[in-house]
Amino acid sequence: MAKKIVSDLNVSGKKVLIRVDFNVPMKNGVITDDTRIRAALPTIEYVINHGGKAIVFSHLGRVKEAADITKNDITPVAKRLEELIKKPVKFVNATRGAELEEAAKNLGEGEILMFANTRNEDFDVALNKEVKRESKNDAELGKYWASLGDVFVNDAFGTAHRAAASNVGIAANVSETAAGFLLEKEIKFIGGAVDEPKRPYVAILGGSKVSDKIGVIEALIEKADKILVGGAMMFTFLKALGKNIGASRCEEDKLDLAKDLLAKANGKIVLPVDAVVNKAFEDTLGTAKSVDAFDQDDMGLDIGPKTLELFASELAGAKTVVWNGPMGVFEMKNYAAGTVGVCELLAKLTTEGAATIIGGGDSAAAAEQLGYASKVSHISTGGGASLEYLEGKTLPGIACVDEK
Ligand code: 3PG
Repeated sequence: MAKKIVSDLNVSGKKVLIRVDFNVPMKNGVITDDTRIRAALPTIEYVINHGGKAIVFSHLGRVKEAADITKNDITPVAKRLEELIKKPVKFVNATRGAELEEAAKNLGEGEILMFANTRNEDFDVALNKEVKRESKNDAELGKYWASLGDVFVNDAFGTAHRAAASNVGIAANVSETAAGFLLEKEIKFIGGAVDEPKRPYVAILGGSKVSDKIGVIEALIEKADKILVGGAMMFTFLKALGKNIGASRCEEDKLDLAKDLLAKANGKIVLPVDAVVNKAFEDTLGTAKSVDAFDQDDMGLDIGPKTLELFASELAGAKTVVWNGPMGVFEMKNYAAGTVGVCELLAKLTTEGAATIIGGGDSAAAAEQLGYASKVSHISTGGGASLEYLEGKTLPGIACVDEK
């Protein structure tokens, strides 16, 4: 059954509680990437353009002590939302209380209200104690936030793997819950790859650690037709096969696990045949070497050109491709070619009609930074959420949304 979508709701004249994931990266109070804010605009715009009263809220960072409340002040995010949506955003710097209740009550049709970081509720200032009311889904808090509105729209995919007061807590206390357009898109693409991938279904995994991706690899061994491995995690696999990986990064304590995964995968895992190496971790010109010809001081920092050719042939004709984790140290220009090459391959497959999906986190940042964001079918806004979804887990933030 399909989930109810915001456009299935009659929002006119209603106070619509919209949970978004505006947990954006910030440096000294300045937002460094506003992708997540942009991604939620269609839902907020739909609500206000259909006579709804939008009450928008999100967490930002983690609040474990009093200082974190100031550190994770969400005011700059409210300002950025105002700039992007080109409408005034009333901001109440509180997560409860008379000012917030009045602002919600007096909100007009087509107006937007945003309130403070939902995780401020994780720390009780009076008690000077971490209480996790938001993060542990305190029953009273979900009920209280639900009382501020009439219906609930969850558009926070990035937080969908957390059962918090601001998603499942509210959903349990309102008459209607729907998915926003962003959550709908994430379900369509990632959920589609999990539940009914068009085949051949090829996954590309990178990043530094096998240990971060064990669940996903195990799930993909069941589901995908091929799993192409790049990034530093390739060296743990290569060493598990007995190869000399020189001075490359490796998780020594995961060699047995890597061996087990290779055995379980029964040929589905495709490992690089060459890598670009350097003698130091620095952005100077490297050398492409076969994975059978490493010297003791060679440090692999990217997949090599022959590996890209191999990956291209493995991907030929793929109908579903999921990619998570960069192929090398793409932030260094000498070691970006593998990641750029994978972006190119995905862009080509997209034009051939494949569903190409980039999991959140580093590979999403790489695709954005390298200019490929609009050339793939979907870039997920969730890091942990997209990994858990790919693992086949039920995400509480999706489960709490009503079916159509
Ligand atoms: C994320 O950025 O992955 C989400 O916003 C969830 O944040 P969290 O890991 O702090 O719960």
